[in-house]
Amino acid sequence: MQLDLDQRHALVCGASRGIGRAVANELARLGATVTVLARSREVLEQVVAELATPNPATRHGLCVADMRDTAALARAVRECVAGRRVEILVHNSGGPPAGRASEAQPEDFAAAFAQHVISGQVLLQHVLAGMREAGYGRLVNIISTSVKEPIANLGVSNTVRAAVAAWAKTLSGELAGDGITVNNVLPGFTETDRLSSLIAERARAQSRSETEIAQAMRAQVPAGRFGKPDEIAAVATFLCTPAAAYVNGVSIAVDGGRTRSLS
Ligand SMILES: NC(=O)c1ccc[n+]([C@@H]2O[C@H](COP(=O)([O-])OP(=O)(O)OC[C@H]3O[C@@H](n4cnc5c(N)ncnc54)[C@H](OP(=O)(O)O)[C@@H]3O)[C@@H](O)[C@H]2O)c1
Repeated sequence: MQLDLDQRHALVCGASRGIGRAVANELARLGATVTVLARSREVLEQVVAELATPNPATRHGLCVADMRDTAALARAVRECVAGRRVEILVHNSGGPPAGRASEAQPEDFAAAFAQHVISGQVLLQHVLAGMREAGYGRLVNIISTSVKEPIANLGVSNTVRAAVAAWAKTLSGELAGDGITVNNVLPGFTETDRLSSLIAERARAQSRSETEIAQAMRAQVPAGRFGKPDEIAAVATFLCTPAAAYVNGVSIAVDGGRTRSLS
């Protein structure tokens, strides 16, 4: 299997912790030069310092940007990766707040749409010419199993994730001829800050303990446990390699078997 990413430059969003950070780590281990993006410079500096450098000449980088502000995102990315081609884009950030779709405000949908859909378009337009020039491009969106089965009380999230999946599927057809693949990874319950905050929120809403909520969630997973960020990252990273060249336009659940739908 051709897994070597030496000479490839990856831009990994939401990479200061959780799944994004785990993906940045794996890409670096396979030899990619990685630029990590999130809102905290201090944390990103630490992430960069800990990324692997199988080739000692590799210089990883960072980009401080808030993906909710898509104009600022465009400016930041232009500066951070100026003059350097990006062949791998991992589009990821934090999930929208919990709540019922019927009670969400229009502004909540607009904000989530900017952070999750428009941000992807801004980033793609920045890197697309380089991917075409290289004849090699990988766009991986980290979204959610809710694109297969909506999750209760994540109304805004369910809505914008479906939009990301539709965007990705459309792009996969448009860009395949340029050697560019577009795929989605759908994490199940994964041990990150996002999961902890969802458990805390459900415990509050249902007046139950966090331990009870976590147990009930684990019981929904045939594997009987939560996933680890590395387990999600392994699949996302594979999709970025030359070996995955013929995988295109798919949404892969990495959820311990929790999603019940057939496809
Ligand atoms: N963990 C799960 O169980 C699970 C399940 C299904 C889907 N997902 C989805 O998978 C994605 C990653 O989840 P995770 O668990 O790794 O989340 P996480 O631990 O909360 O990490 C989110 C990352 O995104 C960055 N981020 C958040 N808001 C941002 C913004 N406005 N602009 C730029 N960067 C931003 C955060 O860094 P800063 O805060 O420093 O900016 C952090 O690096 C999310 O969309 C999440 O909803 C997660």
